[in-house]
Amino acid sequence: MKILIATEKPFSKQATDGMAAIAREAGLECALLEKYASVDVLKAAVADADALIVRSDKVTADVIGAAPKLRIVVRAGAGYDNLDLAACTARGIVAMNTPGQNSNAVAELAISMMIFMARNQFTPGTGHEISGKRLGIHAYGNVGRIVARYGRALGMEVSAYDPFVTDPAIFAGDGVRMASSAAELYANSDYVSLHIPTTAETKGSIGYELLMSMPQGATLVNTARKEVIDEAGLMRALDERTDLKYITDIAPDTAAELAEKFGKRFFATPKKMGAETAEANVNAGLAAVRQIVAFFKEGVTKFQVNR
Ligand code: 3PG
Repeated sequence: MKILIATEKPFSKQATDGMAAIAREAGLECALLEKYASVDVLKAAVADADALIVRSDKVTADVIGAAPKLRIVVRAGAGYDNLDLAACTARGIVAMNTPGQNSNAVAELAISMMIFMARNQFTPGTGHEISGKRLGIHAYGNVGRIVARYGRALGMEVSAYDPFVTDPAIFAGDGVRMASSAAELYANSDYVSLHIPTTAETKGSIGYELLMSMPQGATLVNTARKEVIDEAGLMRALDERTDLKYITDIAPDTAAELAEKFGKRFFATPKKMGAETAEANVNAGLAAVRQIVAFFKEGVTKFQVNR
């Protein structure tokens, strides 16, 4: 049986070596397709694969159609909005993610982005300290919880809101104030760190009103997905409120215009780098292969996302 690791943005060699070793030990073949130039190359490579591991690579119905033997797809990472789950389900293909494996890397980036913006993108001039400021965590999953912990360690007053985490004891146990709504969180946070997934409900959900409600000098930090931002609303809010800032790890469609209009109040990384650490590559990559081995050998579907 063959596992194809198809990553437009490659894992570290340490990760792919470790992934191949686990596959070999389990008697599975492992092929590597990195930095592929087109979807046709991916379709050709997946033709004889029984299992597929990807990062943010799009696994569309078209790709699945080109993979007649495919039984499992693992997104080595948290967000699986790049997988066509309906197409997987229609073919009886199990789709999984590897939750938590790259969370620390993303959380560290989110914290560093706050400091980067507080210090004028590391250019001359007087900046701010993030200690003593109010940090709002929007969605309290694996990444959000780590950002909350690091924020507290840096002396921030941390609040969080997550429509799916409703037990006050979870927040209280972490020393985090539970906000009553997203609106309340934004209105009371000097920094908001976004950790919501892209879903039909969240697409375009962060826009003009939430941004305008933020306190003077506030910064929105996005290490989640670009799709959750209403870019027209963002543009309008940054235009009207010359104190607001936006930093993102996923360049908006309007990045060039935002950069030109808002200078040091806007920043987008050139390529998504939240999970780009050696540690996260190893954690997520090895977990993906282990999940595939457990699926083939023992039928384990613990991290299945298309039940
Ligand atoms: C995730 O959802 O896990 C992150 O966005 C990481 O994405 P990447 O594997 O493309 O870096």
